[in-house]
Order: sequence, then structure tokens, then C-alpha cells
Amino acid sequence: MTEQNYQFPDGFWWGSATSATQIEGAANQYGKGQNIWDHWYNVQPERFYNQVGPEHTSDFYHRYKEDIALMKEFGHNSFRLSISWSRLIPDGIGNVNEEAVSFYNNVIDELIANDIEPFVNLFHFDMPLPMQEIGGWENREVIKMYQQYAKKAFELFGDRVKRWFTFNEPIVPVEGGYLYNFHYPNVVDAKRAIQVAYHTIIAHATAVQTFRELNVTNGKIGIILNLTPSYPRSEHKADQKAAHIADLFFNRSFLDPAVLGEYPEDLINLLKEHDHLPQSEDGDALLIKENTIDILGVNYYQPRRVKAKEYLPNPYSPFMPDWFFDSYEMPGRRMNEYRGWEIYEKGIYDIMINLKENYHNIESFISENGMGVQGEERFLENGQIQDDYRITFIQDHLKWLHQAITEGCNAKGYHLWTTMDNWSWSNAYKNRYGFFSVNIDTMERTPKKSAYWFKQISEQNGFQA
Ligand code: NOJ
Repeated sequence: MTEQNYQFPDGFWWGSATSATQIEGAANQYGKGQNIWDHWYNVQPERFYNQVGPEHTSDFYHRYKEDIALMKEFGHNSFRLSISWSRLIPDGIGNVNEEAVSFYNNVIDELIANDIEPFVNLFHFDMPLPMQEIGGWENREVIKMYQQYAKKAFELFGDRVKRWFTFNEPIVPVEGGYLYNFHYPNVVDAKRAIQVAYHTIIAHATAVQTFRELNVTNGKIGIILNLTPSYPRSEHKADQKAAHIADLFFNRSFLDPAVLGEYPEDLINLLKEHDHLPQSEDGDALLIKENTIDILGVNYYQPRRVKAKEYLPNPYSPFMPDWFFDSYEMPGRRMNEYRGWEIYEKGIYDIMINLKENYHNIESFISENGMGVQGEERFLENGQIQDDYRITFIQDHLKWLHQAITEGCNAKGYHLWTTMDNWSWSNAYKNRYGFFSVNIDTMERTPKKSAYWFKQISEQNGFQA
């Protein structure tokens, strides 16, 4: 077979993504306040894989210089981190923690000194505990507190940070915390879930508005969404309808208001039908309309294969499709045998074409894509993890991304999840995703084979395959 040249546009962003709670460690040090993860671990450590909690995450707080040097050496021209709200403002509202200001200043300066563009996200699943105690996103007051936090972050770091994101995967705390019991506060209640999702969008739009009012020079602001193409499992009408509903709930509930400035009509009708419309205030629709984003981060791991529910009522909601709990076999469907998620590279192309056709080809980039591997030490040879499976995974996704770009899609970069192996919420260190492996006893980093491969493609701005 002849090789093809996959060359990416000039200025393409190559890098990787992380989040504060998952990498910083020092969770109870240097003035940081508690967030829901610190709290949940304190009260229910058995919910975490091997009972490893957020104080043991990859020690970026102390090793950021070494990590940034590795990023530089291995071809990163950009890197996503998040700010921990409870580190910057320990009570969630009020006094700013000066140690946190120095820490984030140091990280940002070190990145820039190494020609690595910082992409900064404000909220990655990590609600400060005092805010959760007053209801978290169910309480509209929390939006004002988030706005003050966002404003502070723009003021402190906006002179150097030019790419900001209000939220990462905002649907996940809704699903995890209010529908399926895998995030704190472990509530199972569709109506409350919808209120949480709605307030999150209001918080997002408020932060965008604040950003624009502050007029951060040359800055762009956006949101990072896990867009999960919803494919019906069969041609049956019921499955097609279920796939449409899943798309409305899990993709379009954030995508449409963030990019188009309004909710899909079908979603509103569905909520009305089930008496699930969230509480809103006058002015909300205008706020959403006037504060659409400049740039969209797309996290893509796997599609959703949707089938209509076979029994009623679904205990988790009166109307959600049953995609969540059952495994599903289909001829040709491939799974990541080391973690259990489907591998479907073309999903990345389908997402991009959808953005081009229905979302005015908004500027976007792949803000996460990656392959988790359980027990990755078994691939250790001569002191290096031989992660050829990850190289294949990234390359196959990049081929489809390249195809989308060739067809005119406005994709500007690719970030792998993740930089160094990190703590993945209640899965802790079960599945490893990084370019750099981490020995969780010594915290020593070792580049995997994929890091060397990525360095080459970033330096050549593409590859032949
Ligand atoms: C998406 C999330 O943003 C990140 O926090 C998580 O660790 C990865 N997916 C892997 O599950």
C-alpha cells in the first residue's frame, strides 16, 4: 500500500491536556480549600480504586518545571491545565490564596518561557465544598460566586493566557452527580440533574460575558464539551428516536446554547412533555444568546450506540434511553481490550462535519482524545512502556481529523488526554493514559514510546502512513 502524507495546517496546536485535581497533588497544602473530591474521599475512601485519593495525584504542584521541560522536549506547543477554584479561593468566595496565585503564575510563565501556549480551563468537575454544601449548581447563588472566581482568574492571568475555557465536560457532573451515582453528591434525580445542567450554562454564559467586559487583549473564550456521536443501534424508529434524545441530552444541551445561543426546540418540547423544564429567570435567554463562544474544545473518546429502552419506567429517568448500562456487540465493533471503551475513529470526523454544517464551522480543536490502559506496566520493556496501541489509536484518529480538515472543517489542534499518567476520579490510577508513565510510589516520570512518536509528528506538523 502506498503511503499517504498527512500534513496539518500551519500553526496547528500539538499537545496534551490535564486537570488540577488530577495532577497537582498537595490537595491539603499551601492554603488550598476542600473541594468535593477531597470531601468524598474523606467520607467514602472505598469508592476509589485501591483507595487512592486526590492528595496522591501526580505531584505537578512540585514538579511542574520538570513536567514542562518534558512537554517541551516531546514536541508540545500547547498544554491544557485547569485552575483549581478551591486552591485559588479556598472558601469558594472571598479571600484569594496568594500561594495559589504564585503557583499558577509560575506555571504559566514557565510554559510561555518554553514556547508552550497555555490553554486554561476554569472548572473541571471540582466544586469547592462550601459551594456544594449550599447546593452546588442547583443553587443559583453559586453562579455569582463562580463569576467572581472567573473574573479574578481573568484579571490575574489574562495578560498572558489567551485561550480560556469556562468548563470541561459540563454534562459529566450532571450524569455522574445527579443521574448515575459516580460523582459526589451521588444524587439520582432527573429533575435536579436538569436544573444543574441549566445553571451550568447560565454560569458559563455569565463567565463569557465577564470575560468580554474585561476585554482581555487578543483573548478567546470557549467551552470544552465531550461530544459523543449518538448512533442508533438499528434502523428501528424507536432506536432512531432514542438516539436523537441522547444527542439532545448529552451533546446539544450544551453545544447549542454555547455555540448558537439557544436550546434546541426538540429538547424544550421534551422537557415540557415530562414536566421537567428547569427554573429560569427573565433575561436568561438573552444572556445565552449574547454570549456565544469563540472557540470550542472537543473531547472525543467513543460514540454512543443507542437503543430504545425495553422496559418502563427506567429507574433513572422517565425518558432516557438505556444506553448506559449494557454492553453491546455489533459486527465490526471494536473495543479497547485494555479498558473496555469502543474505538471508532470516524466519530471524530462525524463530529467535525456536524460542526461545519450545523454550527457555522466554529473554530475548534480536539481538546481530549486518548486511550486508557489498565495494567500498563505489562508493556514495559527496556525501561520504556511500548505503547504501540496508543500510537495506532492516535494516528487513526488523526487521519480522520485530517480528512475533516481537508473537507474544510475548522479544527486547529489536537491534545492527547493526557500528559503524564494521572488520577482519574474514582478510578484513581487504574487506567493509564499519559505520554509519560508515572511510578505512583516515587512519582518518577518516564516517557513512553508514544511520546517519542508524538515529538516527531509535532515537529513535522504531520506524518506519513
Ligand atoms: C474526560 C475528562 O475530562 C477527564 O477528567 C478524564 O480523566 C478523562 N475523560 C478520561 O476518563
